[in-house]
Amino acid sequence: MKMIEVQNYDEMSQKAAQYIINKVHQYPTIKLGLATGGTPVGTYKNLIQDHQQNGTSYRDVTAFNLDEYIGLSGNDKNSYRYFMNEQLFNHIDIDKNNTFIPRGDYKDSEVECQRYERLIADHGGVDLQILGIGGNGHIGFNEPGTSFHANTHVIQLDSTTREANARFFKNIEDVPTKAITMGISTIMRSKEILLLVSGESKKDALDKLINGEISESFPASVLKNHPCVTIIADKAAVSGLKLHS
Ligand code: F6R
Repeated sequence: MKMIEVQNYDEMSQKAAQYIINKVHQYPTIKLGLATGGTPVGTYKNLIQDHQQNGTSYRDVTAFNLDEYIGLSGNDKNSYRYFMNEQLFNHIDIDKNNTFIPRGDYKDSEVECQRYERLIADHGGVDLQILGIGGNGHIGFNEPGTSFHANTHVIQLDSTTREANARFFKNIEDVPTKAITMGISTIMRSKEILLLVSGESKKDALDKLINGEISESFPASVLKNHPCVTIIADKAAVSGLKLHS
């Protein structure tokens, strides 16, 4: 894993966006894997700004998101489909037909998982996957204990994850209890991974990732087995960390 240390959230967001922009210029038909949550919002802002100022085009780009809450339709303000439209897709020239997110309101979530996994495979897999990390080490919504062999699947959200995400909802009872997420195996098949880590609240998770063992009890640790991972982390997340490697 390669680590790029930056000063703060804004620099992380600029660096991450530039990384993605360079790839889009190099491979205009790139398949991007995208994340939601607070971490990538600044990155998406920078992508929009660059699109408006420099004309970087996403016309031929395909995007697959990591996860979606079960029970929410794409019109629900708390769905990740809504989030992605608002935070990125509505502001760049990507064809919405080429933006994929698991359908949280599909009648049979298990069938939806299989469909989503097949969809990614049929497109030749993800070229560059953007990830955030949960305080408990989750990537996507792969909570601690998830098998490293899992493909896209239904997951019961940890209480800590629901608490962390309650900030986007009116109250914690409204946070769905289940989600569909790309599995660890799905994520590991992406050709390249860019992990964004910002803030003191992610310090322990980053420390565990860098200095801990590879274990299903800490899902992000699997990234050490991936041949091409870049971490962009800010000072607050890195402070006090012992950097081996
Ligand atoms: C988002 C996702 C999650 C988040 C993680 C961190 O699609 O899959 O793994 O990346 O929960 O969330 P934030 O960025 O809000 O701290």
